Amino acid sequence: MTSVPVLTIDGPSGSGKGTICRAVADRLGWHYLDSGALYRAVGLASAWEGVDLSDPEAVAACAARTEIRFEDDASGEPRVIVNGKDATHQLRMETAGAAASAIAAHPPVRAVLLALQKGFRRPPGLIADGRDMGTVVFPDSRYKVFLTASAAERAKRRHKQLKDKGVSVNLDSLLHEIAARDERDAGRAVAPLRPAEDAVIVDSTGMPITEVIERVLAVLPDSLRRR
Ligand code: DC
Repeated sequence: MTSVPVLTIDGPSGSGKGTICRAVADRLGWHYLDSGALYRAVGLASAWEGVDLSDPEAVAACAARTEIRFEDDASGEPRVIVNGKDATHQLRMETAGAAASAIAAHPPVRAVLLALQKGFRRPPGLIADGRDMGTVVFPDSRYKVFLTASAAERAKRRHKQLKDKGVSVNLDSLLHEIAARDERDAGRAVAPLRPAEDAVIVDSTGMPITEVIERVLAVLPDSLRRR
């Protein structure tokens, strides 16, 4: 299936990847892979089952038996179903993000999720959102973006996002958590967060969403940008 085009969009948490990727996937009519949600779901399922998050083999076994489904509800809102339960809200919490970041450092867990992620590559194309989409999961992709923004801006965006959802968090503690997670994601031995050598870097600090979307779409040739 390597002829199916993939646009990989990697970057740190809060860089606006989710919003941008969904908008770009909508514009093109392509599939969307939210790989972070897979790591979050495995973290959550491990916590539900009382699995020790620091045990790579135990978490990998849990990943292999966890059923994760992406669906749209009646109003078109995306939902993530984990082992039959709607976990959409829980998955967005910072606790789920921290669990995801911890289990994402285990090579056997990444190996289980690798095959699953590759399976999302289906016609007419895929927008792959994550940390290692361009470097590890779809290294043969011809279209790669590394989307970033300053840590302060990312903390502000996440703060607003959570506030809009009725979750109250302190901006400073959010900034601290984001910085700690960035460090863990970039510093780990396996699939660390870094731009692919052939990725186009887009720094969205202070940039309106519409412009970020245009910059991302500009990575594709004209023939693919038309639906
Ligand atoms: O994008 P996110 O915040 O939902 O990701 C949650 C965590 O999962 C993040 O801290 C790092 C990890 N992750 C990863 O290691 N590789 C990916 N492709 C996506 C996410």
